[in-house]
Amino acid sequence: MSPTAFRFARRTSRLTPSMIRELMKLMGRPGLVSLGGGLPSADGFPAEALREVSQRVLAQSPREALQYATTEGLPALREWVAQRLRQRGLAVPATQVLITSGSQQGLDLVAKLLLEKGAKVAVESPTYLGALQAFAPYEADAVEVACDEAGPRPESLHEVAGARALYLLPNFQNPTGRCIPAARRRQIADQARRLGLPLIEDDPYGDLWFDRAPPPPVAAQWPEGTVYLGSFSKILAPGLRLGYAIAPAPVYDLLVQAKQAADLHSGTLAQHLVVDLLRTGMLDAHLDEVRTRYRLGRDAMAQALHTHMHDLATWQVPEGGMFFWLTLPPQIDAATLLPPAIEQGVSFVPGIAFFAGSPMHHSLRLSFVTEPAERIVQGVAALAQVVRRAMATFREAPGRPKLP
Ligand SMILES: Cc1ncc(COP(=O)(O)O)c(C=O)c1O
Repeated sequence: MSPTAFRFARRTSRLTPSMIRELMKLMGRPGLVSLGGGLPSADGFPAEALREVSQRVLAQSPREALQYATTEGLPALREWVAQRLRQRGLAVPATQVLITSGSQQGLDLVAKLLLEKGAKVAVESPTYLGALQAFAPYEADAVEVACDEAGPRPESLHEVAGARALYLLPNFQNPTGRCIPAARRRQIADQARRLGLPLIEDDPYGDLWFDRAPPPPVAAQWPEGTVYLGSFSKILAPGLRLGYAIAPAPVYDLLVQAKQAADLHSGTLAQHLVVDLLRTGMLDAHLDEVRTRYRLGRDAMAQALHTHMHDLATWQVPEGGMFFWLTLPPQIDAATLLPPAIEQGVSFVPGIAFFAGSPMHHSLRLSFVTEPAERIVQGVAALAQVVRRAMATFREAPGRPKLP
């Protein structure tokens, strides 16, 4: 059959490649210091513990672990998630926990239920690129809510009243690293409730705090108006492809049906492995290790930025998560800096990838968890040189430089 025989659905015109994945093609250079990708540190994967539980699960319960299972997920895993969230301040029964194939699937399923052509979905500015990608095929329009360093401004929410939901990243946001303070969470939830604006709370980074745990989830303020998404990707390993969605009853039932149609259920073997792994009680010590490793990366980057870029950019030091967000002088277009940066041996993600509306061209995201401390320092020094050169060129020939 000739490829022209295919007639694609209208929604495919909204599918876009992830800028980050496109950039990765440029980033294959050996020796390149990768401050671009958002990959968790592979050194922190619990590989040995997983090897042990794999053997045990396959020896003791191969018939269950390799069989089809219920769409909702393994009861023991749902119970574990519910208990963990109760400890974090969100009272939730296990019957409201749906195990998903990563929180990315949660985004897709929620979008499938809530979005359609002509509808609006409100997002932070900037926001997670993967959410914009997940929402796009449902043909709704993503509209930005005004934000400051503490997150979305509650008094601006009325501007997006009528949207099907507000997508929120309260903990160590991707890309900015910001954490919404407790008081702001309350104000956002109160205002959203008043406006009848449901919330989608995406929280893959909540356990990656360095000095103190973040405030309870926003969902705790308005559980009946919030779908909460969590993930095992950043606390264990993304290759497991396990996450979860917590939703009030009417939404929950539809989510289960949408998931059933999408993939029947998440991988049974992965769920059995994670249940067994969590039963060993390893998580707290493991998280301590991951936090220590990431804190070192954060400190190395904070120090390197201070040394090399204090006169070139501004940033907030994140209290957890994986990212720094840099604001360069407004005349600089960060995307134009990427080819010379790669020449100099360092990668980053230009900020424009993360905006639904008017992008901040002079912003960029740096990850501090993929590379060891000494390479972070080397990468930041190289990036500083590239920015400095661009500034000098700009002084000689004003006007925003264009992508080659
Ligand atoms: C904010 C955010 N949400 C969701 C995801 C998807 O994570 P998962 O691996 O659970 O699908 C990511 C991945 O980086 C993320 O940064």
